[in-house]
Amino acid sequence: QNGRLHSAASKADLTKVQEVDAHFQHEIHAVSSAGQYVVEDAEHTLIEPSDEFRRTALIPSREKYDALYRESVKDPDAFWSRIAAEFYWKEKWEVNDGKVHIENFDIRKGPIKVEWFKGGKTNICYNALDRHVEAGRASDIAMYWEGNEPGYDSTVTFGKLLELVCQVANYLRSVGVNKGDAVVIYMPMLVELPVAMLACARIGAIHSVVFAGFSADSLAQRILDCKPKVVLTANGVMRGAKLINLKSIVDSALAQSKEQGHAVETCVVYANEVATKKEQTAWVGERDVWWQDVIPRQASKSEVEWVDAEDPLFLLYTSGSTGKPKGVLHTTGGYMVYTATTFKHAFDYQPGDIYWCTADCGWITGHSYLTYGPLLNGATVVNFEGVPTYPDAGRCWEIVDKYKVTIFYTAPTAIRSLMRAGDEPVKKHSRASLRMLGSVGEPINPAAWKWYYEVVGDSRCPISDTWWQTETGGFMITPVPGAFPLKPGSATFPFFGVQPAIVDENGNELEGECSGYLCIKASWPSAFRTLYGDHARYETTYFAPFKGFYFSGDGCHRDKDGYYWLTGRVDDVINVSGHRIGSAEVESALVLHHQCAEAAVVGYDHDVKGQGIYAFVTLVEGVEYSEELRKALIAKVRYQIGPFAAPDIIHWAPGLPKTRSGKIMRRILRKIAANQIDELGDVSTLADPGVVEQLIELKHK
Ligand code: WT7
Repeated sequence: QNGRLHSAASKADLTKVQEVDAHFQHEIHAVSSAGQYVVEDAEHTLIEPSDEFRRTALIPSREKYDALYRESVKDPDAFWSRIAAEFYWKEKWEVNDGKVHIENFDIRKGPIKVEWFKGGKTNICYNALDRHVEAGRASDIAMYWEGNEPGYDSTVTFGKLLELVCQVANYLRSVGVNKGDAVVIYMPMLVELPVAMLACARIGAIHSVVFAGFSADSLAQRILDCKPKVVLTANGVMRGAKLINLKSIVDSALAQSKEQGHAVETCVVYANEVATKKEQTAWVGERDVWWQDVIPRQASKSEVEWVDAEDPLFLLYTSGSTGKPKGVLHTTGGYMVYTATTFKHAFDYQPGDIYWCTADCGWITGHSYLTYGPLLNGATVVNFEGVPTYPDAGRCWEIVDKYKVTIFYTAPTAIRSLMRAGDEPVKKHSRASLRMLGSVGEPINPAAWKWYYEVVGDSRCPISDTWWQTETGGFMITPVPGAFPLKPGSATFPFFGVQPAIVDENGNELEGECSGYLCIKASWPSAFRTLYGDHARYETTYFAPFKGFYFSGDGCHRDKDGYYWLTGRVDDVINVSGHRIGSAEVESALVLHHQCAEAAVVGYDHDVKGQGIYAFVTLVEGVEYSEELRKALIAKVRYQIGPFAAPDIIHWAPGLPKTRSGKIMRRILRKIAANQIDELGDVSTLADPGVVEQLIELKHK
């Protein structure tokens, strides 16, 4: 099958930034047709924090931000050491010549390497839980859990959370999980999911959470890569009105991975009887155990494994533009210091705040800003199992009022889908507790920003549009809301210690107002250290395209006031509702269908999802296109990757535009998908320019 897969470009398509920039300009002005929420000129719209917000803000002025920023880039070692000292370290880190970190971001100078606080011994679970309990906060609330179905909820104190974590930690040890071993977690958003993560951290095991919307194939692929002894899961879950039978997906993934050489010894299954009864759950006797049978009987105290700052904390798989998913590896010390600090300042977190992040722990946001960042600050978090529109479009605001949420953090796609339901479901609820809003996952268009600001936040709450990535571990470009005015749709300025560079296609850094590829010039504490088992891929993907820099894969514009505007991916990664999907992965799934000869997948603008998936499909000789086949192809992708990766549009393609060397020209396909037929550009280098005409003709069929 792989032979039929075309080889996608190994590095970013460096012609894309012009396209992206044109798209950006287009978006800013096109929103004037989007009704009432119009931002005529987002670049010139400044939104100041209110006096009230500023009065209590942690960083209340531009001067203070500037001074801290300057210090953070001038002497990052001193800056981050001072902050790191606020945490508990069993042993202090090494200091060499005043340095607490080493880095090489330049492949011309040798292997890429990043280390922070090496030699320091700590534990992130201890810092997130024990530290607060020991400070007398055992009965303070760490987590409100709100179930999918209204009326199902629970409240967990720091003391209780620590006990739960200790029980899981003890159990994992009892089945032979040691420091450095991987544990795969495939669970819905129950309290037990962050508990499982923290338990791994406590014993020095490396957790790898797989979003419980991934298919059996995707799960198996990840299991085969990191080879866990133990998998933690639940038998089922209700997502909105839909039942998802997780255990049968896990069974098939575990059978597959066993067949391919890795047998998981123990599968712990949380009986989530709201969704699936125990007796309806398939069982593999010698491998499966019920969570409820083995965890509650464990001791509720458990020793902490002190680990090196540079010992791995977790692996999280993410999609690239080519090949199989990449295991992004994060280590302990720098990640701890950075996620805690970014959480505090980007949301102006202060004791007493109730913080709700709608992300799932299956993605990086659920790691850094639902679990570690907030708990390290001793914050109370809301963990919501359901979806924002179930049972109706007012659910989020009902939850905000129920728990008196003060900080609300979600994705533009959720905002746009709620915006569609109108203002009424929002205004029906008070939302008076809110003081701060956040956005993450994709560029937020100015119209959606304005609706979020005016309707949800009653023009009172600043919005932190946080730009970052699985790879960066924490916020990179983000407002510090008390310090400077916002612009609708801009992520504003770099966080402390972050040195962005916008470069042109030759890797030259651009100055002042400009558009180009977003890179980072120097390391920050929560930078990923490698791709699991493939350091060479780490170097070629991120550090080879622009020598001396980390390349993010995003396009970016910097305006005359120095504000950063993210314009979307410039590689073959598609951002669907904030989920990162590699075109190559969707293509591989499509060609697994026996009637599909070749496929090329691109993203296109989608009103709610940000981007949709547009698949050009060439069928095997003699096969006719049909509605039935269209459905079968979409089903194939859902089955191979997961429902969230299903193509929105299938375009029948008798031929694909290829260069004479056989490379598919995606630039042209993106234009066809976007209906920008008059902007196709030069097609003369194509092996068969006639293919393009043919595709355009077929578009409307
Ligand atoms: C990609 C990273 C970071 C957590 C969720 C996604 C896009 C993310 C923003 C933002 C514009 C954004 C970028 C980035 N992205 N946040 N505020 N503005 N774009 O993590 O799956 O690693 O995806 O999401 O394109 O490269 P991820």
